[in-house]
Amino acid sequence: MQAELKAIEQEALAKVAAVNDVKELQAIKVAYLGKKGSLTAVLRGMGKLSPEERPVVGEIANQVREAITKAIDDKNDVLENAALEEKLQEEAIDVTLPGRPVTVGGPHLLTKVIEEIEDLFIGMGYEVREGPEVETDYFNFEALNLPKDHPARDMQDSFYVTNELLLRTHTSPVQARTMREYKGEKPVKMICPGKVYRRDTDDATHSHQFTQIEGLYVDKDVKMSDLKGVLDIFAKKMFGEDRNIRLRPSFFPFTEPSVEMDISCKVCHGEGCSVCKGTGWIEILGAGMVHPNVLEMAGYDPKVYSGFAFGMGPERIAMLKYGINDIRQFYLNDSRFLKQFHQA
Ligand code: DAH
Repeated sequence: MQAELKAIEQEALAKVAAVNDVKELQAIKVAYLGKKGSLTAVLRGMGKLSPEERPVVGEIANQVREAITKAIDDKNDVLENAALEEKLQEEAIDVTLPGRPVTVGGPHLLTKVIEEIEDLFIGMGYEVREGPEVETDYFNFEALNLPKDHPARDMQDSFYVTNELLLRTHTSPVQARTMREYKGEKPVKMICPGKVYRRDTDDATHSHQFTQIEGLYVDKDVKMSDLKGVLDIFAKKMFGEDRNIRLRPSFFPFTEPSVEMDISCKVCHGEGCSVCKGTGWIEILGAGMVHPNVLEMAGYDPKVYSGFAFGMGPERIAMLKYGINDIRQFYLNDSRFLKQFHQA
């Protein structure tokens, strides 16, 4: 029996020495020391020994069990350490590698310019409104004193969806919508930024889709001088206190009289230079006193109420303000262009 125990010990130790895997080591443990293990089986047979033999064999059996247990525990430590070492190697961070830059986005220049204009008018008591981009022929044209077959409709080549629906060609329909909502009963003071669409061929100064900001102020006793005052504040806040404005006669079917507003050239201050093509002035927007027909169609009595309106293109304003020479830059989403204005 002693020889049997020694044989078991040798066999077990050899297997432990050869194993390289924690699971296999566990299997060896079970095979020798487990309830059905070979050492356990031998120990069970101890009852058959004589009383003299029993303590001697018992001691040897204990030694064998301790030797196998220790060998297994030691091997387990070795394998676990090796596994840990391997994991650490795998997960090691090379702090000398160059990092990946994290790029931070920012609002689009056009968004910033629109928000700047909104803030300015909100400060003067205007509300900011929205209107549909797919508009009815009625609001886009008729309610603005442009009946069907009016030649001035050709000024704005349109994308029609059906006979009565089109992509709005300007934000002016929101004037008519707002006045109608106010039912001719109270003053209106609103601006409306938004996208507009025209059948134009895209080039450096034209785009089939661009943005506009419409403005409208209707109340009792609104005068042309009020319009001029508001536009003067707008021009000075947007372009600088040293800039002047002038109003030139123009024509829009929805205003009478109609004007175009210019600002003095920032390079020559009105003298005439290459930037302003020798005129000293740069065209910014269209405006005028709301036509009595437009007031009347929207439910305002033109004998009681009067108002002014204006419409401007934020792209044009941004182009002049930041020296951008191609409107397509706003829509290409080239981050090299866009990120130049993140701090603007
Ligand atoms: N709707 C005009 C356009 O798109 C711009 C405009 C001119 C709007 C004069 C106005 C205005 O409200 O009074 O060309």
